[in-house]
Amino acid sequence: MVTIPEYYEGKNVLITGATGFMGKVLLEKLLRSCSSVKTAYVLVRPKAGQAPEARIADMINCKLFDRLREEQPDFAEKIVAVNSDLTQPDLDLSTEDQETLTGCINIVFHCAATIRFNEPLKDAMQLNVLATQKMVNLAHRMKHLEVFIHVSTAYAHCDRELIEEVVYPPPVDYRKLIDTLEWMDDKLVSLMTPKLLGERPNTYTYTKALAEQLIQQECGNLNVAIIRPSIVGASWKEPFPGWIDNFNGPSGIFIASALHHPPFIHSFIAEIMASLQYHVISTFKRNPLEQAFRRPNVNLTTNHLINQYWIAVSHKAPAFLYDLFLRMSGREPRMMKTITRLHKAMMVLEYFTSHSWVWNMDNITMLMNQMGSEDKKAFNIDVRQLHWAEYMENYCMGTKKYVLNEELSGLPAARKHLNKLRNIRYTFNTILVVFIWRIFIARSQMARNIWYFVVSLCFKFLSYFRASSTMRY
Ligand SMILES: NC(=O)c1ccc[n+]([C@@H]2O[C@H](COP(=O)([O-])OP(=O)(O)OC[C@H]3O[C@@H](n4cnc5c(N)ncnc54)[C@H](OP(=O)(O)O)[C@@H]3O)[C@@H](O)[C@H]2O)c1
Repeated sequence: MVTIPEYYEGKNVLITGATGFMGKVLLEKLLRSCSSVKTAYVLVRPKAGQAPEARIADMINCKLFDRLREEQPDFAEKIVAVNSDLTQPDLDLSTEDQETLTGCINIVFHCAATIRFNEPLKDAMQLNVLATQKMVNLAHRMKHLEVFIHVSTAYAHCDRELIEEVVYPPPVDYRKLIDTLEWMDDKLVSLMTPKLLGERPNTYTYTKALAEQLIQQECGNLNVAIIRPSIVGASWKEPFPGWIDNFNGPSGIFIASALHHPPFIHSFIAEIMASLQYHVISTFKRNPLEQAFRRPNVNLTTNHLINQYWIAVSHKAPAFLYDLFLRMSGREPRMMKTITRLHKAMMVLEYFTSHSWVWNMDNITMLMNQMGSEDKKAFNIDVRQLHWAEYMENYCMGTKKYVLNEELSGLPAARKHLNKLRNIRYTFNTILVVFIWRIFIARSQMARNIWYFVVSLCFKFLSYFRASSTMRY
């Protein structure tokens, strides 16, 4: 059997979404581990006044590509940026580009999508479903296509508890929905959206499910594979541990917990999260972020009331006081705004942090078993080998280094800042206790009696402790 790099030898690959998180990791790995791949064509739209070529040139200058640059200095020659907006008719491809792609592509990776959970339904349909349809149409015209890989999500069928490796019947026929959305105005669509979503939490998972159905219905004789990643975090080992470049999903939660008293995670799979929580907090206590607002902490709770209590006491009250301080010192208040944004982001994740699923992975197991020893080493997909403590530490350090661009040289100052925050907290707590003491104890006889009782108990305990320790000598 050929190895994976042998399979890619001399092949032309087409990737959509190559400027995104998953796409660029795929591009880097493909070029590094399958160095004899012929060309990687990437469909890229112009953005912020930058042409596709310039965007790709910028992208491959980032840290992710350092190792590849070192191993293969000329790797950029294998990347061809093709101007394309997937939401436009014919993917906005020029006739010339269409001819090139249909004439030479062997493998397609369709990664582009909108991953914003609450994208308006019309927009989510445009990219996640209609663009997929256009890609399938293009694939049908490719003369040498061997396989079409569609990147879906593990949550496409999150309305089920057991998710097997099959395409489930869709919530609605995508063709009917496309027709309906065509004549509806935005207001009507947004009114209708919750009804359409049914058990699904957002338009992202809904449209990803429809895209899977579309692939199944329209792939004809193409060889198609649908892959369903779950929530993707920082890199495990390659090109180096902990690489990540966005705030999405867990990264946002980690950064939030490191910046200040953090978001809540309702009833996550408790044992796993408790252990992850420990690693995140301990890493950030040892390696604090420069912008920390409070000492790193995280609370997991399944109780809505407790959650609301901590949000009020631990997030909103300090944010309000901090903003008051900023206002009084003539600066722009910002913490309440940040906290509100953070909570909104957490609300979006809430569905995923408060449900659990069982995924069947027979195909992945079969794939792992069929891989030769060389491939197993170069394309290790066996996450059972992952050492979680080490992974989490690298992940947290990755968010610090690559997402927040903080240098390790800033650590001593960040640690000093964290100690200052700890002292502020102790001072605040002491003032609070004295304040409560003044109100309750000084004014009520009963409170005073309880207070004296507690103090005398402590005193007795200390005397006993002192006596027993002197007896030993
Ligand atoms: N990240 C995860 O945790 C995760 C988990 C499960 C599944 N997935 C799936 O993995 C795939 C990639 O996700 P990601 O995290 O890499 O997303 P991402 O970082 O948001 O990247 C999205 C990509 O799609 C491109 N794109 C968007 N609209 C486009 C348009 N009109 N024309 C051309 N390109 C367009 C973006 O290009 P621009 O740079 O021009 O915007 C970008 O390259 C998606 O299918 C997603 O459903 C991701």
